[in-house]
Amino acid sequence: MQLGGDGGGRFQVGRHRSTVRAGGLFVLSDPSCDTGLEGFLDGLQRSHRIVSGFSLRVRVPAEYVIENVFDADHFAPVHGLDRRPRLSVHPAEGGPLRVEGDLDMARPNRWQAAEPEGDPARARFRALVFSPNLVATELGPPEEPNVVITAATPACDGTSTVRVTVAVPRTRAGGPLTVREVASLVSGSRTAFEQDVVIWEHLDTSVVPRYTEGDDLVRAYRAYCRQFGAGR
Ligand SMILES: [Fe+2]
Repeated sequence: MQLGGDGGGRFQVGRHRSTVRAGGLFVLSDPSCDTGLEGFLDGLQRSHRIVSGFSLRVRVPAEYVIENVFDADHFAPVHGLDRRPRLSVHPAEGGPLRVEGDLDMARPNRWQAAEPEGDPARARFRALVFSPNLVATELGPPEEPNVVITAATPACDGTSTVRVTVAVPRTRAGGPLTVREVASLVSGSRTAFEQDVVIWEHLDTSVVPRYTEGDDLVRAYRAYCRQFGAGR
């Protein structure tokens, strides 16, 4: 909202496009950085039920939270996956940066911190990164995935607030998810974030990163971030 536009020393704030969708308020601070979030959320609201998740304050800049989905090396040691996932990144002109791959897991719920049991299961993983502040992660079959929306809002002191929302299919071959299954998805997501927080809060983000051969996806993400004026 603009309170005064004559440059005469009056206080002003910028006017930005905003929308309330899927249980959240989203602000587009630069129209040239529109990557199609509104259309995605419209489709998601039609096909999925939106469930409020949780929020966390973390001592790391927001772009590191979203970078998490590109860091193939961390899934096994931090989240206990059986092995490093095979991930690929696909830039979309004017759209979100897409990460796709499979996660090998040996636990009934993909984010649970329970002891592994049974044969490893393979789960499809797809993440749509709309900005350095927002990622929608799809887990499960492409026709009826569960979706975890992670928004990281930066603060002036270098911390960020992570807000997680879960979307579950309205219809599903095996019937709609039960309350217990939805609660498990939310609590499992929270467990995963708490595992990541231990790493994030011990990062020294002041050093210039030295990327290695396995960091191709992270480098692609950082290049994507630069169009938003973030990352390096
Ligand atoms: Fe993680």
